[in-house]
Amino acid sequence: MNNLNGTHSIDKFIESALYDKNYGYYSKKNPFGKQGDFITAPLISPLFSEMILVWVISYWINLGKPKEFFLVELGPGDGSFCKTFCNSLKKFPSFENSVKIFLFERSKTLIKIQKNTVKNKKVTWIKNLSQIKKGPTLFFGNEFFDSIPIKQFEIRNSSVYEKFVQFKNNRFNKFIFKKVSPNTQKKLKKLDLLRKKGIIEYPLKGLKILETIVKKINKLNGGILLIDYGYTKAQGNDTLQSIKTHKKNMFYENIGKADITYLVNFGLLNNFFANKKLIINKIVSQNFFLKKLGIIERAEILSKNISFKEKVDLYYRLERLLSEKKMGSLFKVLFASKNKTKFNLGFK
Ligand SMILES: C[S@@+](CC[C@H](N)C(=O)[O-])C[C@H]1O[C@@H](n2cnc3c(N)ncnc32)[C@H](O)[C@@H]1O
Repeated sequence: MNNLNGTHSIDKFIESALYDKNYGYYSKKNPFGKQGDFITAPLISPLFSEMILVWVISYWINLGKPKEFFLVELGPGDGSFCKTFCNSLKKFPSFENSVKIFLFERSKTLIKIQKNTVKNKKVTWIKNLSQIKKGPTLFFGNEFFDSIPIKQFEIRNSSVYEKFVQFKNNRFNKFIFKKVSPNTQKKLKKLDLLRKKGIIEYPLKGLKILETIVKKINKLNGGILLIDYGYTKAQGNDTLQSIKTHKKNMFYENIGKADITYLVNFGLLNNFFANKKLIINKIVSQNFFLKKLGIIERAEILSKNISFKEKVDLYYRLERLLSEKKMGSLFKVLFASKNKTKFNLGFK
């Protein structure tokens, strides 16, 4: 990779490691699937995307079946979710007539992959959220938020310091802490992020994107459904992690060759949306959400007409999505909306 020497804030470092045009992780190859570095729910089983489709249609019905309805997928990865979603649309002709889908993706390499995977006239790619002009619009992101760089801070002797990573001779040298401006300190305080012990994680860029989305929701009507690996109460842990071929490594190693993510602070997102006057459902686990949508019943129906080998595969994949030790409880689901009539399918 290019010259790394110097001192970089954590978010700037992640930004170039993941998205630099020449060496960034998401700019080079397809990282998804068994052969890649990690696997996400839509790749584990199409049942995941089918359940989201059921949820989206129910939301559309709750809105009174508007003639035009827009779904924006945030960070579509390799396009697996959208492919399954579009393939299943045929079964719901009146919804199919109403829905238009936008894919919001920043990686040119992934856009190419998505265009090969998703071939449907209903789907358009957008580079900027300002291209969304009509509503109601539902934003959906699976493992979107955790791929947007964060900043890290720590309190020392009552002052707030930002964490930086320093490289010498193109190798990691040490972490450096710099005192922040009173303005940044004020912002962190407002978001209720200042804590005396441990690391403070601040998704500055992620919140900026959500700010734009909330403005759209308030103007056009709609909501946002986010699913991600995360927690509801911050414990002061450093949650940055770097994954290469399904194994963890230090985030400052294998730059451009490993994915860097962090655990999403859903408590923070909850407060953020509440401050913007959106209605928020209680945050639930992926296990709770998918079971409420009938994923087990759907698997039972599918399992009736398949071979024993296929049945084993179906239930193995279902277990990965639902297991309390795996994605089932680690992944959380949040829905925030402008609805006047409460919509809580999957959350109650
Ligand atoms: C971890 S992947 C998740 C992919 C997919 N949703 C899935 O579940 O398989 C994160 C995705 O978000 C995209 N992404 C990250 N930051 C983005 C941004 N600021 N704007 C648009 N897409 C972004 C990445 O390029 C990638 O497609």
